[in-house]
Amino acid sequence: MGLKPLQIGELTIKYPVIQGGMGVGVSRSKLAGAVSANGGLGVISSAQIGYDEPDFEKDQNLANLNAIHKHIKKAKEISKGRPVGINIMVALKNYEAQIKASIKAGVDVIISGAGLPMHLPEYVKNSKCKIAPIVSSEKAAMIILRNWAKKYNRTADFIVIEGPKAGGHLGFKKEQLNSITDTEYDSEIKKIIDTIKDFEEKFNQKIPVIVAGGIFDYSDICHMLSLGASGVQIASRFVATHECDADEKYKQAYIDASDKDIEIITSPVGMPGRALKNKFVKLIKEKPIPVERCFNCLEKCNPAKVPYCITKALIDAVRGDTDNGLVFVGANVGRINKIVSVHELMQEFIGDKLC
Ligand SMILES: Cc1cc2nc3c(=O)[nH]c(=O)nc-3n(C[C@H](O)[C@H](O)[C@H](O)COP(=O)(O)O)c2cc1C
Repeated sequence: MGLKPLQIGELTIKYPVIQGGMGVGVSRSKLAGAVSANGGLGVISSAQIGYDEPDFEKDQNLANLNAIHKHIKKAKEISKGRPVGINIMVALKNYEAQIKASIKAGVDVIISGAGLPMHLPEYVKNSKCKIAPIVSSEKAAMIILRNWAKKYNRTADFIVIEGPKAGGHLGFKKEQLNSITDTEYDSEIKKIIDTIKDFEEKFNQKIPVIVAGGIFDYSDICHMLSLGASGVQIASRFVATHECDADEKYKQAYIDASDKDIEIITSPVGMPGRALKNKFVKLIKEKPIPVERCFNCLEKCNPAKVPYCITKALIDAVRGDTDNGLVFVGANVGRINKIVSVHELMQEFIGDKLC
C-alpha cells in the first residue's frame, strides 16, 4: 500500500491520515475508534460530548468530563489500543479540566484550535500525551511556537494547518475566504513549513506538519505531501461513513448537499464558520434567535447578545433535525455522494502506490 506512516515522537500512525475532530457529537468513540483501528488517527471532539448523557441538563461540565472518559476508553477498545486523539477547542469554558480528564483517560494526542493554545504545554506536563496547535497562518504558528519555546522550553509534537476550505469554524476573516486562491494558500503552507524548521533545529526534533481543509482524495493527499507536509487531516468525508456518530439524517444532508447549499455564517465563537444553508441559517440571517438557556460552552459568550445558541443549534443537528439545527460542512461537501465504511474510505485515501 502507498503512503508512509506518520511518526509523532514514539507514536507511529500507520497511514498519515488524521480524522479531524467534529463537534458536537459528530466524532465520538465510534468514528474515532474505527479510524484508528483502520490505521489512521481517529479524533474525538470534546465539544459538549456529553450532550446525550442523563445528567447533561443539570451539569454540562460534569457530564462532559465523564463522557470524555467514557469515549476515550471506548475508542481505544475499538482501536485495539492504537493511538486515539481528542480535539479540545481553546474557546471552551472548561478547557483545562477537559485536557486533564483526557490525559487521565489515556488519550494519546490533543489537537487544539479555535483560539491560540498558549497554556496547553502547562496543562499536559508530566504526561506522554502529544500536543498540536491548529493554525491557519504563519503568524499564528510563530506566536504559538515562540511562546511555547520561551515559557515552557518545548515545542509542538506536530502542527495542523487548517486552510480556508475546512468545515466548522475558520481561522480567516469572511472576506479572505472568497479571495485566497489554492496557489496562494499552498505558498502559506510552505512558509509555515519553513518557519517550523527553526524550531525543529532548536529542539532537535521533527515537527510533522499536517494539512487540513478541503482534502478530498488520494491526489489531494499526494499534493499536500509534495508541498512538504507529513500528513493530512480530513473531516467532512468521514461524516458520510456508517461509523460516524451523527444521526443518519445528518449524513444524508451531506449526501444531498451541492455547492450552492453552502453558507459562511457568523458564530458566537467569534469566528466565521462554514455550514449548510438550511432553514436555520436563513433564519439567523434575518433575525437573532433569543437564547432561552445557557449550556455553558464558551468562555466568552454573552447569551443576551449572541445571535443564537451554538450548543443548541449543533445538538439539534447531530440528533437529526437538519432543518432547524446547524450543520457544519467543508467546502467539498457537494462532491460527497455515498455513505461508505471507514475501512473503504481509508483504502481509498491510502492509494496503491507511493506518491
Ligand atoms: C461537522 C464538523 C464539525 C467540526 N468541529 C470541529 C471542532 O469541534 N473543533 C475543531 O477544531 N474543528 C472542527 N471541525 C474542523 C475539522 O476538524 C477539520 O479540520 C476540517 O473540517 C477539515 O476540512 P474538511 O472537512 O474539508 O476535510 C469541524 C468540521 C466539521 C465538518
